[in-house]
Amino acid sequence: MPRVLTVAGSDSGGGAGIQADLKTIAALGGHGMSAITSLTAQNTYEVTAIVDVDTDFIREQIRVCVKDIGVDAVKTGMLHTEQIIKAVAEELRAIGAPLVVDPVMIAKSGASLLKPGAVESLKKEILPIATVLTPNAREASVLSGMSISSLEDQKKAAKTLAEEYGIRGVVVKGGHIAGDMVTDILYFEGSFYEYSLPRIDTRATHGTGCVFASAIATELAKGASIPEAVERAKRFVHSAVKGGFQLGKGSGPVNPMAQTARNAALLETIERMRVAVKVLEEVEGATLLLPECMINIGEAIPGATSREEVVAIPGRIVGIGRKLKASSHPWMGASRHVANTILTVMNYDPNRRAAMNIKYSREVIEAAKKLGFSVSSYDRSQEPADIKAVEGMTIRWGVARAYEEAGKVTDLIYHTGDWGKEPMITITGTDSIEVVTKFKRILEKIREESHR
Ligand SMILES: Nc1ncnc2c1ncn2[C@@H]1O[C@H](COP(=O)(O)OP(=O)(O)OP(=O)(O)O)[C@@H](O)[C@H]1O
Ligand SMILES: [Mg+2]
Repeated sequence: MPRVLTVAGSDSGGGAGIQADLKTIAALGGHGMSAITSLTAQNTYEVTAIVDVDTDFIREQIRVCVKDIGVDAVKTGMLHTEQIIKAVAEELRAIGAPLVVDPVMIAKSGASLLKPGAVESLKKEILPIATVLTPNAREASVLSGMSISSLEDQKKAAKTLAEEYGIRGVVVKGGHIAGDMVTDILYFEGSFYEYSLPRIDTRATHGTGCVFASAIATELAKGASIPEAVERAKRFVHSAVKGGFQLGKGSGPVNPMAQTARNAALLETIERMRVAVKVLEEVEGATLLLPECMINIGEAIPGATSREEVVAIPGRIVGIGRKLKASSHPWMGASRHVANTILTVMNYDPNRRAAMNIKYSREVIEAAKKLGFSVSSYDRSQEPADIKAVEGMTIRWGVARAYEEAGKVTDLIYHTGDWGKEPMITITGTDSIEVVTKFKRILEKIREESHR
């Protein structure tokens, strides 16, 4: 168990500080410990009060953990005053574990978390003992005395700080530098490393810096190299921003549990799909509803926004004799058509997360209606040329048309084809098992009707 100690402030709003640190450490599989330096009364848009913890008590929190539990890596965040900085530096020097220093100066809301006169002692006491330093552009500017507004500036500042203070890794973060991509620059052992991911357009960025630094510390505690740890932390904070919550009136909290929750949801979905497919493969005579383009079935995880978050059958479902057979095991990102349908349907009803395409026939529609399933349709020959031209747009357009006309979200959606396009029915439902159940009932109904 990687043991990680965070020495930082408490954020009563739960978005940043030790609250974010402990969530991050836990999500990445570590054991988190905390030495709280200051208590802040804080929400998403303001810090209304700060109480600094007595320095002897800060030392004591660190010491008890070290002497019993042990520490594989340390992260520091808010160190409000010169006295706190001195006390913490003295304790940490004695530990010797890798130290990630997030030189916190200003909260997202703009409140100062570092007393103006304390910058000098941060430079003198803390920077020289840091293994990794993670300033944002503003902090790097204050510490290096350079102005930073470009990638080149980030590089220069990272190298300058690393050399001036003898720090092994300096990451100058790019969150505050405009651009579609957010690029963090690491200077490590004479080389630059660039970590670039798309900027997520959101106000929920409360805690990004804390999550990033804690993730680096946890990865170092696991034994990762500095460039590896930064790479993993970058991806981790990205998922936390992506899964963030628009809570409160200001910058909502990021969500360090997002990656764990997503992985758990994917596993659960794959497992349910496995059961659904097994049931489907047992259905005698199911090939009656097998279209030329074969069948696929898919189920999305809650809140899915991309095809990677939709589980389907790679290679689709084919016919063997009178039964259906999946070409392989369910996996994420395994379908385009069905996944696009599901993602579109979810825009109308987030709980309707599964779909399956089957062969079109009048009998299927009749049987479904008799069973009380709701049905809607669209006419592909009316698809505008500009929509036809864009890959993946047909379904979005079609589902929107069908639902608008029906005035509701329906169990079945169909179209009767167009030049070179096979007519198709899509069964939708809350999950894949429900979709397969609907399929079975429709098939039984068709048989019943044909025996009359
Ligand atoms: N909108 C965003 N989309 C994706 N990644 C982001 C976004 N904003 C920040 N990040 C990432 O989050 C991490 C923290 O960067 P940032 O520059 O925001 O730090 P910070 O200003 O110290 O944050 P805080 O205000 O929480 O202390 C970096 O890895 C950065 O790339
Ligand atoms: Mg910060």
